[in-house]
Amino acid sequence: MITIANVSKVFGLDRRAATPLLAAADPSAAVGEAGGHLAVSDVSLEVARGEFFVIVGLSGSGKSTLLRMVNGLVEPTAGTVSVDGQRLDTLSAAELRTVRNRSMAMVFQHFGLFPHRTVAQNVGYGLRIRRKPTAADRERVDWAIAQVGLTPWRDHYPQELSGGMKQRVGLARALATDADILLMDEPFSALDPLIRTEMHDLLTTLQHELERTIVFVTHDLNEAMKLGDRILVMRDGHAVQLDSAAAMIGTPADGYVSRFLANVDRSRVLTAEMVMRPPLLVAHPGESPQAVLGRLERHEANGSYVVDEVTERILGVVRDGTLAELVRAGTPTIASALVQEFETVAGDRPLVELCRRVGQYCVPLAVTDPSGRLRGVVPRAALLAALADDHPEPARPASRPEVAHA
Ligand SMILES: Nc1ncnc2c1ncn2[C@@H]1O[C@H](COP(=O)(O)OP(=O)(O)OP(=O)(O)O)[C@@H](O)[C@H]1O
Ligand SMILES: [Mg+2]
Repeated sequence: MITIANVSKVFGLDRRAATPLLAAADPSAAVGEAGGHLAVSDVSLEVARGEFFVIVGLSGSGKSTLLRMVNGLVEPTAGTVSVDGQRLDTLSAAELRTVRNRSMAMVFQHFGLFPHRTVAQNVGYGLRIRRKPTAADRERVDWAIAQVGLTPWRDHYPQELSGGMKQRVGLARALATDADILLMDEPFSALDPLIRTEMHDLLTTLQHELERTIVFVTHDLNEAMKLGDRILVMRDGHAVQLDSAAAMIGTPADGYVSRFLANVDRSRVLTAEMVMRPPLLVAHPGESPQAVLGRLERHEANGSYVVDEVTERILGVVRDGTLAELVRAGTPTIASALVQEFETVAGDRPLVELCRRVGQYCVPLAVTDPSGRLRGVVPRAALLAALADDHPEPARPASRPEVAHA
């Protein structure tokens, strides 16, 4: 959807003066000596259709400049930006405006509202420059205003609003357009935490339902980790690492990224599937109590999951005490001894939701897929280790659990 190829941006020097300096051994120093500033340095990346792409970095690292090159507000000094296969540098000013208005909506860091237009007029702006407003447009504007909770302020002017409310007007404007690409520059930085969380959810829903492609700039790493399918970490104009949240936490590219990640709330970023282990013990209902009890003994476990041999769905749990009774009674299979004493969790749930759910039963918390198949388990110790550890061991590929086949 968006291709950025070897893009650099120099401020303070014209292109002719800047271009040769980019080939220097240390372009940043060379540009600096000549009195310019290298804001973005040789960045290449691709954003896929429907992706939630986050750019994160400290103030001045070049995030806004990179974002503004995507919609052509800033022209790269070197390199090319393509949107939907169209290279922006080949377009005339008029064509560029058309692309920008049709396929992109931008939420600016500093609101970007028209002071002499009402909330509703600001929200409808993106629609109006494309065509005459219709009844459907007006409905859409009202929907977008309602989404951000500003219905009572519909006919007020920006100067009557707080910073957070202005930000929500900017967001509503992006919601109202049907642009495929949303470019958002710190859209939530002025919002209260509660509204911020609501906006996160709204944006995630919007992305999934309407298949928007979102490029989102923030300096809040927790926000980046929560929202981003992939996250680009920028430092001094350079792309330092581009990865999923999990991959970045698992393998930071360098010391800078590790230190940068130190403040991440791991319990909200790491998910069940990132810390799950292959189940050590799995039994099938047709097995003999002796066999299962023997395995429990060897693993010093008090219970085992019992899964259907064909569907791999969890049928229940058997406990060591019950198994011993079955052995004494000469019962041939464990099928009659299943109890529903276990908890399951979906793989994408953050660890913070698991904390109160581990350690309650004789079997570890089960990670299941949507059809109830056992994918792995989260023993209490694994959960605590992941929350404490700097680099949690990634989930090992599920080796076959020890199972006797009848
Ligand atoms: N129009 C401009 N003219 C000159 N220098 C600029 C211009 N825009 C940005 N810069 C410089 O380029 C560098 C990167 O700026 P940019 O706004 O992209 O950073 P940022 O990562 O968005 O920072 P913040 O988190 O503070 O918004 C900064 O040093 C900034 O001073
Ligand atoms: Mg910025």
